[in-house]
Amino acid sequence: MNGNKQAAGVYSVPKQWAERAFIDAQRYEAMYAASIANPEEFWGEHGKRIHWIKPYSTVKNTSFESGKVSIRWFEDGTTNVSYNCIDRHLTERGDKFAIISVGDDPKDDARITYRELYAHVMKWANVLRSQGIGKGDKVTVYLPMIPELTYAMLACTRIGAIHSTLSTNCPPKVLASCIADAASTVVVTADSGTRGGRKLELKVKLDAALDKLPEVVTSVIVVKHTGAPVSMLKGRDHYYDELAETVPDQCPPEEMKAEDPLFVLYTSGSTGKPKGVVHTTGGYLVYTAMTHQYVFDYRDGDIHWCTAEISWITGHSYTVYGPLANGATTLIFEGTPTYPSMSRYWDIIDKHKVSLFYTAPTAIRSLMGSGEDAVKSNSLASLRLLGSVGEPIDPKTWDWYHRVVGGGRCPIVDTWFQTETGGILMTPLPGATELKPGSVGTPFFGVRPELVDAAGNVLDGVANGNLVIADSWPGQMRTLYRDHERFEQEYFSIYPDKYFTGDGARRDAGGHYSITGRIDDVINVSGHRIGTAEVESALVAHASVSEAAVVGYPHEIKGQGIYAYVTLIDGEAASDELRKELVSWVRKEIGPIFTIDKVQFAQGLPKTTSGKIIRRILRKIAEDKCTEFGDTSTLSNPAVVDHLIDNRLNRK
Ligand code: WTA
Repeated sequence: MNGNKQAAGVYSVPKQWAERAFIDAQRYEAMYAASIANPEEFWGEHGKRIHWIKPYSTVKNTSFESGKVSIRWFEDGTTNVSYNCIDRHLTERGDKFAIISVGDDPKDDARITYRELYAHVMKWANVLRSQGIGKGDKVTVYLPMIPELTYAMLACTRIGAIHSTLSTNCPPKVLASCIADAASTVVVTADSGTRGGRKLELKVKLDAALDKLPEVVTSVIVVKHTGAPVSMLKGRDHYYDELAETVPDQCPPEEMKAEDPLFVLYTSGSTGKPKGVVHTTGGYLVYTAMTHQYVFDYRDGDIHWCTAEISWITGHSYTVYGPLANGATTLIFEGTPTYPSMSRYWDIIDKHKVSLFYTAPTAIRSLMGSGEDAVKSNSLASLRLLGSVGEPIDPKTWDWYHRVVGGGRCPIVDTWFQTETGGILMTPLPGATELKPGSVGTPFFGVRPELVDAAGNVLDGVANGNLVIADSWPGQMRTLYRDHERFEQEYFSIYPDKYFTGDGARRDAGGHYSITGRIDDVINVSGHRIGTAEVESALVAHASVSEAAVVGYPHEIKGQGIYAYVTLIDGEAASDELRKELVSWVRKEIGPIFTIDKVQFAQGLPKTTSGKIIRRILRKIAEDKCTEFGDTSTLSNPAVVDHLIDNRLNRK
């Protein structure tokens, strides 16, 4: 995209992208207008992109009315997800690679064709059946990022079982509560895994979790991955290989209703205990397949790599279901971006000719610190598009990603979505949208974002407000597992009859959105609304800063003060000078109302097992209320919190 820089920091759509991409600006306008004017007709047409056993005759039957929220798409159609992700590709793409699996050790990689995937998934499905699993039963999957993880998930969909996939970071307590909540009778795990050269004691952690719930789980299926010896409880624990020998090879797909649950995904959110987000079969698959094609401009021959853990919604939708429904080659990586060296991601891209690369700003920031040389020893010539997801990307990180990783020629799609939304709701489209660092572009087809003020008044034009979605889209969550009331309360009661995202956003004159952060992360300082994400973005733009998290705390004069937690890049030392410099840097970058009151240097930030910063804890430490953290069962790094408490700055 060299030479396409327009106004400062804005990149127009390169000519070749406008000409070649599936969606150019005109087509976007026309399709978006049609999707809003007549969702029935629009989705009636696009729903056909997947194979239906019995075609649907109704398309949309949804209500956001408070107290009566009900979301149903394509409801009289029947289909099967594994059939769509595997069987229907066999005639034309049987020998194409479905999965490239890259191990933690750079020597380990494997390629699995669609035909091989087919055989594995049928075997897995029969193994699950042999353990009593059938339609509607729940299976917890607790595996590293290895092909067996996708086999197990797809096998569930083949026989109509509901999977709940948990992160390998999950400590036993979280594992136990999620297994109990889902009432899974079968858990799939591995002996152990390796990540970043370190051992993941999966079976040991699972055993500790199951000690707490002996009556729930009747069968544990163990994949021999590292070959490490583990204790096996007689009658309950079985090695996958041994079960596989005893079951048939063939397993026809179950006919599933469009609204049958496909999976439960536990998300920690910022409050309370993990909630089980429920996605269903037909609408989810249509939506993830369609967004995967158009957002990434996916074409046959692309090698698609989404670095997210599969146990995250991003991995479900854009490592597994979207790409495989489109017959793509998807790359799964077991390791970390920094092992065995800071160039690991870039080595993998070159070795496997990755063309579409999708990652999170956190990962990019962790690699930026090691400089450009680690990237430049690779050519990265195969890349044609980059994606970002999960958190706002600050301009410094965006620029580095664009210039150093993308060589200035790859568009970046900054995609905004949530576990709850199933697929991407707002994003630039590479052939249609001009790019601006920090902007998540415009809504995808069928998505009706609105900005509202605290009282729920809809704001027009250029505005800054709370982000709600006014109508349903096919990939939307249907309920919270066994708690429809909480679902209604958390998402549909704050602004009645609208889906509340929990995010704040800004809309510019061109109708492009930027996410300003979670609503609960907005600080009101002397009457000014301050998005913590804006302050964080300014802080990490400073050369010494690695990560930053900003919260509010009660302030006598201003209402709220700004409290920043800052981690420094390697080799930088904390000092009072640096503290002062950061405060004046931020004032200079984004204005004097953003004067930070307190800067606490931190070793690390408290994060959930899925890598999200737990701001609730940071807020409490800033308020000097260190005994009021609430439920910390999703906290992955408790030692960091102790250090933060010891060094807190607002001691009474
Ligand atoms: C945030 C992740 C800014 C947002 C897919 C959302 C983002 C939450 C972006 C959902 C983005 C996600 N820019 N913020 N591109 N993408 N978020 O459920 O606050 O893990 O509500 O799903 O991440 O996180 P979740």
